[in-house]
Amino acid sequence: MRKLAQLAATAGCMVFGWTFGYAQTQDLAATPPMGWSTWNYFHHDISDTLIRAQADAMVSSGMRDAGYVYINIDGGWEGYRDANGVLHPNKDFPDMKALGDYIHSRGLKFGIYSGPGPGTCAGAPASYGYEAQDARMFASWGVDFVKYDLCSFREIMAKESGADPDLEVQPKMNINFAQVMAQQPAAVVEKSDEIMKAAYEKMHQAILASGRPMMYSLCQYGYAKVWQWGPKVGGNLWRTSSDVSDNYASVTENGFREAGLARYAGPGHWNDPDILEVGNGKMSGDESRTNFSLWAILAAPLIAGNDLANMTAETKSILLNKEVIAVDQDPLGKQGDRAYGEGPLQVWTKPLSGGDLAVALFNGIDSPTKMTLRLADVGWHGSADARDLWAHKDIGAIGEDYSVMVPGHGVTMLRLSHARHE
Ligand code: GAL
Repeated sequence: MRKLAQLAATAGCMVFGWTFGYAQTQDLAATPPMGWSTWNYFHHDISDTLIRAQADAMVSSGMRDAGYVYINIDGGWEGYRDANGVLHPNKDFPDMKALGDYIHSRGLKFGIYSGPGPGTCAGAPASYGYEAQDARMFASWGVDFVKYDLCSFREIMAKESGADPDLEVQPKMNINFAQVMAQQPAAVVEKSDEIMKAAYEKMHQAILASGRPMMYSLCQYGYAKVWQWGPKVGGNLWRTSSDVSDNYASVTENGFREAGLARYAGPGHWNDPDILEVGNGKMSGDESRTNFSLWAILAAPLIAGNDLANMTAETKSILLNKEVIAVDQDPLGKQGDRAYGEGPLQVWTKPLSGGDLAVALFNGIDSPTKMTLRLADVGWHGSADARDLWAHKDIGAIGEDYSVMVPGHGVTMLRLSHARHE
């Protein structure tokens, strides 16, 4: 009898645990998260004052109302860990709870950054050994989003997997991890991967135990095919590649490398090609529209990475393009994929609710090029009513194909609907 009761209790726990875990993932990110991060533009040059000003700009620019709600503080907020294990922000962040309250008062959500290692990429304290304590503290500040960056944890992986057993682990990474692991037998690499997965699961459990739902953003640069196990460790989003930078080659490298990964994304869990570079100054308008369109086709998190308080009209017109945002945020929650490619010319599609299809024609050549959408090659039967999502105008019916001059490094993005007469 007692055995039976024990069994029932275990089963109950399992069902409860599963339901709880599910709530952590699915409800928080039914569509890809939208927001803003300090990292791409401000790097470590951040403060309470800056964050409040950016939150204000998020509201006054209309971005909040377009769906951008997360205000994510990336690396650079940390101070020191005291003798009781309490992690203190640095002097530029005098009161995190008050900052969280301010962010919430503007109808926005509060994101923070840490990692599984002893140190962040900049060598500031991270959560190794203090996961539960940090998660509780984040919850007490009102944090809604945690980005968890691998950084120095790679040294623990190298040491504990046996790749480099004598390594002295430092808060600041001082080994070339890729080089160390490249010389290891498969069993060691596998062990190292398992240690990494366990570390992400540990923070997942700590977040659950804190009692506050927090979006969980895995940042480990796509190691060990994270898309295959990200949801199992509670990830709502996971980086699929290394850091993006403000140029066409980088954004297209990070975006296009997600070809074939669509099946791993869906409501609650998304592939993340990194923060947007729109508005950071080094890309042309066409290149920036490529960045935004590609992210939308990929159902990627739309986390702006620019200075929201100083946006040109063109930057605003991109970040606030509601028709492209609707492609990203489509309730069907399906990531798009490459339909066909001819050298630097690629056609990508994303299925949308109601039987619509988003199509993006990307011109990788640095001069205007004629591109042709062939409906049969994107799996479309019959004719289509098409709308140009950057020109904001209806094109009319497309029979079999549609040719268009696409600007250099630019994109033409269409939404196809079934023709009304059909
Ligand atoms: C990198 C991470 C970036 C940013 C940076 C902060 O590891 O990929 O997105 O968080 O650390 O130092």
